[in-house]
Amino acid sequence: MSHGPSAPSAAAPHAPHAPHAPHDEPYVPVFIGARRKELDELFTRYPTRMATLLPALWMVQEDRGWISERAMTEVASVLGLTAAYVKGVVTFYTMYHQHPVGRHFIQVCTTSPCLCAGADKVVDAFLEQTGCKELGVTSPDGRFTVIEVECLGACGFATPVQINLDYVENVTPDTVPTILAGLK
Ligand code: FES
Repeated sequence: MSHGPSAPSAAAPHAPHAPHAPHDEPYVPVFIGARRKELDELFTRYPTRMATLLPALWMVQEDRGWISERAMTEVASVLGLTAAYVKGVVTFYTMYHQHPVGRHFIQVCTTSPCLCAGADKVVDAFLEQTGCKELGVTSPDGRFTVIEVECLGACGFATPVQINLDYVENVTPDTVPTILAGLK
C-alpha cells in the first residue's frame, strides 16, 4: 500500500502543547522568564547570537510543539536576524515542525530493507490504531501523528520506529497495540 511521500528522518521532543491559536489571539512570547534566562546563558557560550538560532528554535518547539510564523518573528527579533532568514532555516531542517503535530510524533522507517521486512504493515497498524488514518494527519484526540521516514539507521532491527526521541526496534503489527498502550 502506498502511503504518500516520505519525510526525512528527524524528530523533536514534544511536550504537550496548545492547539493552533487563531491569528487574532495575542501571541505569548516564548522567550520570557526561565526560557529567556536559558537563552541568555546560551549567548555566553556562542560567538554570536545568530549561532544560537538552532537551539533557540528547538526551545520554541519544545514549548509549543511546532514553530509558527509568529514564533519565527520572535526568534528573529531576539537574535537580531530577519524573519526571512529564520524562516529559511526552519524550512530547511525537517526536524522543525511548521504546523502542529500530535503529542507523540511517530516515524516509521519504510526504506527498502525495512519495507521488505513488512514496514508497510507496521505503518498501516499505526495509522489504524492511532486514529490518524492518513500519513501526516494528527489523530482527532491530538495525541498522534504518523509519518514515514527514510533509514533510521537501525536496518538490522526492522522495523524501527522513532517516537519523539525514543527508538523502538523490531516493531511488527502485533506489537503496535502494546507500544501505543505505553504512550499517554
Ligand atoms: S532501512 Fe530501515 S532503518 Fe535502515
